[in-house]
Amino acid sequence: MVALDHPRGAPGVAFLYDFAVAEARRGQGYGRALLHAVESSAREAGESALELNVFGHNMAAIRLYASAGYDVITQQMRKSL
Ligand SMILES: CC(C)(COP(=O)(O)OP(=O)(O)OC[C@H]1O[C@@H](n2cnc3c(N)ncnc32)[C@H](O)[C@@H]1OP(=O)(O)O)[C@@H](O)C(=O)NCCC(=O)NCCS
Repeated sequence: MVALDHPRGAPGVAFLYDFAVAEARRGQGYGRALLHAVESSAREAGESALELNVFGHNMAAIRLYASAGYDVITQQMRKSL
């Protein structure tokens, strides 16, 4: 699920909310293909960037996003006390 309205109002920035591939189909290139399709749709809608949140432990998603050209722009950190 992608929104053309950024949650904090950043102009021209679409936001990716829900992004998942069916468990049995993971690791076959669908995630990368779907991400490219979302980017193309957002670009065609006039957006100049796509932003998303990802948990720090989600290495599969982080590797996909990093290899697709996404940079870290904010980081939320936690320590168990
Ligand atoms: C993240 C997700 C969408 C990736 O979809 P996918 O179809 O499995 O990904 P692809 O097969 O297209 O792989 C693309 C890249 O993701 C990374 N990747 C995918 N699975 C991985 C795994 N198990 N471990 C490490 N990296 C992985 C790799 O960098 C891979 O590129 P490569 O094949 O050239 O090495 C999928 O794992 C998923 O649905 N996860 C559960 C939901 C989720 O976490 N969504 C993201 C929320 S931010």
